Amino acid sequence: MNRPSFLSDNCPPMGIYETLYAFRDSFGQFMGTPGTHPWSQGFPLTTQLEGGPELPSSVDVTWEDRFYPKAWGHPLLRDAIAEHYNSFYGSNITPENVMVFAGGRPGIYTILAFLKKHVEVRIGNAEWPAYLDILTQTDSSWRVVPFTKENGFHPSNAEYFDRSGLNAKTHLLPIISNPGNPTGHTRAGAELEELIAFAEQPGNGILLDEAYEMFHGSKGVSGIRYVKDLDNSNVFLAGACTKGLQCPGIRIGWIIASKKNVETMANYSSFGMGGVSHPSQLYAAKLLEPNRVAQARDAVERHYGMQRARYGEAFANMGLKVHTGDGGFYHWLELPDGLNANELNKRLFRHGAAILEGFDCDMARPHSKDPNYRSPYESYFRFSFGPLLPETFESDVAILKRVLDEYRADVAAGRA
Ligand SMILES: Cc1ncc(COP(=O)(O)O)c(C=O)c1O
Repeated sequence: MNRPSFLSDNCPPMGIYETLYAFRDSFGQFMGTPGTHPWSQGFPLTTQLEGGPELPSSVDVTWEDRFYPKAWGHPLLRDAIAEHYNSFYGSNITPENVMVFAGGRPGIYTILAFLKKHVEVRIGNAEWPAYLDILTQTDSSWRVVPFTKENGFHPSNAEYFDRSGLNAKTHLLPIISNPGNPTGHTRAGAELEELIAFAEQPGNGILLDEAYEMFHGSKGVSGIRYVKDLDNSNVFLAGACTKGLQCPGIRIGWIIASKKNVETMANYSSFGMGGVSHPSQLYAAKLLEPNRVAQARDAVERHYGMQRARYGEAFANMGLKVHTGDGGFYHWLELPDGLNANELNKRLFRHGAAILEGFDCDMARPHSKDPNYRSPYESYFRFSFGPLLPETFESDVAILKRVLDEYRADVAAGRA
């Protein structure tokens, strides 16, 4: 008989990974191998974009780089990140406002792991699946803000800070991916300014996840532009080299926060993380070279803006309802006539394709599978055009259309 594990029994992989494992079991190969169509995947192209900067192919490593890293991050990289924000957004943050992590997720996880108990998280009903796992594993308390067709999957800023039914003891921390994953909805300009103004009020804060910062018509959207007094706030901005800088594999991300909050995270790093790989941080500093970033901002917006527009048009033409905002590299789609995204996925698997089911993005769902739970997003799905080369557009559209037509025909004939 197996002894009961000492580790948690409630630690399934993130929803996206579950789709990957189900795909492998059905198709016999991992998603991403040649001949597969990675529409479920949240990574960008990792090759040079048309008109974009070259991606560095090496980094020098000296004897000093074999030392333990600084708990808070390499001085060169912290400088480069602070400059990255100050030059584009007109902010005046210092390197002491920057905490370096091994990617976006560890930074987000750390904030939630150290959140005081009287801080309540607010999160949109349709958000990035990892948030649900992180909130659960860190034992955070959260309330869901409705994302519906009626509010266009884009609730007002005020809804995230609604205090009805709360006493003064409870403080609020909305978590918002902006541009949004999975919806692409983006708060920019006056709306973003208002969001940050709410977040700077006493008793409020925000974790604004800006992983998709460059994927917007403005070529850069960050709340830092509107922050008035970062050091006296609980504003946390998450960034990473993962998407716009096209390097998920180097595992570099960061949190911009008050010096006090950065110190707490750095103290945690000293006993729980040991800093982040020097070669990766040096590579990231190269990626952030200002002329490179300027070129990347143009190329990312051109390539992904073009893909967003043409996939959106093709999806609408095949009868899908397109609910996508104006940023990111995902489409948020609704199947017609109550068709089910799980069934669609099973049918796509046979063609080497997969999407992310809306159910996985539902922040109100139970963390462990519950057959009785009905998600409002069962007929919704996220289509990622992040990793897709321009050349695959026609075949991608043809596969999805064919599978959808077959599914509809089966439903009409009572076969599904
Ligand atoms: C909303 C969001 N935040 C952050 C990240 C960055 O994750 P990481 O850098 O850990 O790969 C992602 C990547 O999928 C994301 O979609």
